[in-house]
Amino acid sequence: MDRIRIRGGNRLNGTIAISGAKNAALPLMIVSLLTPETLTLSNVPRLADVKLLQRILQNHGVDIMIAGKRPGQNGQSGDTKQLSAKTIADTTAPYELVSKMRASFWVLGPLLARCGEAKVSLPGGCAIGTRPVDMHLLAMEKLGAEIAIENGYVIAKAPRGLTGARISFDKVSVGATHAALMASVLAKGDTIIENAAREPEIGDVAECLVKMGAKIEGIHSSTLRITGVTSLHGCEHEVIADRIETGTYAMCAGMTGGDVLLKGARPDTLGAVMDVMRQTGIEVTETNDGIRIYRNGAALQPVNVDTQPYPGFPTDCQAQLMALVTKANGTSMIRETIFENRFMHVQELARLGADIHLHGDTAEVRGVAKLTGAPVMATDLRASVSLVIAALAAEGETMINRVYHLDRGFETLEEKLQACGADIERISGN
Ligand code: EPZ
Repeated sequence: MDRIRIRGGNRLNGTIAISGAKNAALPLMIVSLLTPETLTLSNVPRLADVKLLQRILQNHGVDIMIAGKRPGQNGQSGDTKQLSAKTIADTTAPYELVSKMRASFWVLGPLLARCGEAKVSLPGGCAIGTRPVDMHLLAMEKLGAEIAIENGYVIAKAPRGLTGARISFDKVSVGATHAALMASVLAKGDTIIENAAREPEIGDVAECLVKMGAKIEGIHSSTLRITGVTSLHGCEHEVIADRIETGTYAMCAGMTGGDVLLKGARPDTLGAVMDVMRQTGIEVTETNDGIRIYRNGAALQPVNVDTQPYPGFPTDCQAQLMALVTKANGTSMIRETIFENRFMHVQELARLGADIHLHGDTAEVRGVAKLTGAPVMATDLRASVSLVIAALAAEGETMINRVYHLDRGFETLEEKLQACGADIERISGN
């Protein structure tokens, strides 16, 4: 297995190009199931999760073509993919694939809407929590589907198609909102989705669906109104910039000190992340081609943050923020309100010298003067990058094991950091 070796202490200076958002690219690829015509997606990040979803969609019968390099195109722009689901050859999403990448469960809505049936493996839990899908199933039943659970699979049937309904979610769920939206665009009649998640990736998917002929109002709000149509056509759509990657590299720059331009970053999608960064003493400036992150020698200040659904502080940046404040000038309190087990990075950060105490859903992070390099273990996608952030400011060498977690969500991370002066390299393992 590959490992990443980091020798800390270098300040980051330069430019990092922000990739297309993983959490938009995945649902956008799934949307291809809703039409027999071609959906062309540009700025698709080259990630392990994208490759895995390709396999799942091809199993359903989606043809996927990746455009070759064009003159003048540099390695920093994502892939352009053409996805064509002329016919759906198989409405089953098998356990061996779904269990590897939870978002593949989201094919349920489109398969039901397009084919009137679906057999999708329950995704099971994962490192950060049990991750139930009850709200997804509730939404499908509200739209008229018959749902049964057999041998770890969801068996869904809607032989007469789906019918518009009022879906009111008890709590905010990104996945359940995607599922309800993707299913309702082809349902008969009107659907209202209340307490919908407002993450920018959902807005990106909704805007793509509108280009395909869907009728959706209230995009980016917590109430979506959909008028079902009988069919959708293809379109071209560019994947939105990744706000989590933006927050991550901003914290890398803030942690080491330095001056970094995050090219292509979208300040309007960063919600509370920019505010929290500024509270730590990091200078965050919006520019006409992204966001500039600057910190001279001033000490980092502690913060008190609760993770929240968008536009609050994102849970997907919680581990990164924790790494940043391990060297703050005081004690920070970070409360994780979305997932029940998203503190696995704490023990690994402690191996680097961080002083963190857990009190239920809250981490008390007492700032220390220095971190010291050590061998550490990546446990999940965002936890693994928090180890990178801490290692960049640790004295000596850190070896991060199991970096396949990183490859799931961060495109060419080492190259992007090396280009700004970090002493980081990947050591290929057997
Ligand atoms: C999406 O996961 C993201 N994944 C996650 O990013 C992100 O952390 C999460 O939203 C929250 O923002 C993708 O977009 C591919 P949820 P999702 O449904 O949809 C509970 C990453 O690192 N819940 O918004 O699975 C659930 O247990 C990943 O890129 C139910 O109870 O998250 C959680 O406590 C990690 N029943 C809360 O809702 C349900 O049916 C929010 O989960 C669904 C969810």
